[in-house]
Amino acid sequence: MKDRIKDALEKVKSFKESSSEKIEEFRIEYLGQKGVVKSLFADFKTVSNQEKKEVGQLLNTLKNEIQDRIDTLKAKVSSDDSSSDNDSLDLTLPGNKFTLGSRHPISLVRNEIEDIFARMGFSISEGPEVEDDWHNFTALNFPEDHPARDMQDTFFVEGYDDKSLRTHTSSVQIRVMENEKPPLRSISPGRVYRNEAISARAHCFFHQIEGLYIDKQVTFKDLKYTLMQFAQQLFGTNTKIRLRPSYFPFTEPSAEMDISCFICNQEGCNICKYTGWVEILGCGMVDPNVLINSKIDPNEYSGYAFGMGIERITMLKFQINDIRLFYENDKYFTNQFKSYIV
Ligand code: PHE
Repeated sequence: MKDRIKDALEKVKSFKESSSEKIEEFRIEYLGQKGVVKSLFADFKTVSNQEKKEVGQLLNTLKNEIQDRIDTLKAKVSSDDSSSDNDSLDLTLPGNKFTLGSRHPISLVRNEIEDIFARMGFSISEGPEVEDDWHNFTALNFPEDHPARDMQDTFFVEGYDDKSLRTHTSSVQIRVMENEKPPLRSISPGRVYRNEAISARAHCFFHQIEGLYIDKQVTFKDLKYTLMQFAQQLFGTNTKIRLRPSYFPFTEPSAEMDISCFICNQEGCNICKYTGWVEILGCGMVDPNVLINSKIDPNEYSGYAFGMGIERITMLKFQINDIRLFYENDKYFTNQFKSYIV
C-alpha cells in the first residue's frame, strides 16, 4: 500500500504536461470518480491499525500534492495564454492611423461664398458646361463680332456649330431668367473654360460664382450694399470696397470691384502692387437688352449681376502664388487647408 502511494507520488511530481487537456486528463486519472486516489482510499480499509496513521498521512500528502500540481500547471497555462494574447492585441500600442482627406481649397471657398449669399436669400442654380451660343453669348448682348466669341477665347465643340464650353456662368443666369418669374435672386457656381495659355496666373479652365438679382426697382445702391456685405463677410469686417467703371456687354453701367488689401492693410505690398487695392469681381446693372432676350419686361423689372473667379479669391485668401497648384492633386498642397473651417 505504502509503495503504491509512493509510486503515485513520484509520478505526480514528475508530471509536466502543459496543455489544459492533458492537465484535465491527469486530474481525472488521479482525482476522478474511478481515479487513483479514490481507489487508494477504498483500499485504506484493509490497512492494519498500526499502519493507519502513517498511510493516512501519506494519502493526504498525495492528495494535496496532486491538487498543487494541477493548480501550478493550470496557472502556467493561463499565463502562457495571456502572453500570447498580448502578442496579437496590445491595447497600449498606438492604433493604425487612417488618414482623413481634406476638401480642396476651391471647394472650401466656393462653400463659404455660397453660404454668405444663401444667408442673403440667394438660391443656387446650375447649368450645363457645354453651352449653346444663345446662352453663352447672344442672349447676353454680345455683338456678333465680339472678340470673346473668337477662337482665341472659346473652346468650340468639334462637329457642333452651336456648341462650346461655357466661358462664364452668366449663361446659367439666362437660363434662370428664362425659366423662372421675377423676383429672382440666384447665384451660379461652376467650372468655366477659356482658351488661354497656362501660366501661374491663368489656366484654360477655372471656377466662377456669378450672382443675379431681378426685382422691381433694383438699383445700383442694392448692388453696392450687397457686395460690401459679401466682401466684409469673406475678408473681414474692416474691408473697404471700391467700384471702378468698366465694360461688359450684358451690364450697363458696369464696374469692377476692388477690396482694400487685407495683407498689407493698404500700406502697399506686392499682392496689391503697392496700390492698397485688389480687384476681385465684375458687376453691373443687367442691360435691358438681356432682360428683353429673357422675356422680362425692362419697364417693370431691373436687376444687378456680378461675377467672380473662385481661384483668384482663393489665391488671395491663402496667398497662393500659382494657379496650377490647384489642379495638380498634390496632397501636400491640399492637406494644408485641413484646418480651414468655414
Ligand atoms: N461674366 C463676367 C466674366 O466672366 C463677370 C460678370 C458677371 C461681370 C456679371 C458683370 C456682371 O468675367
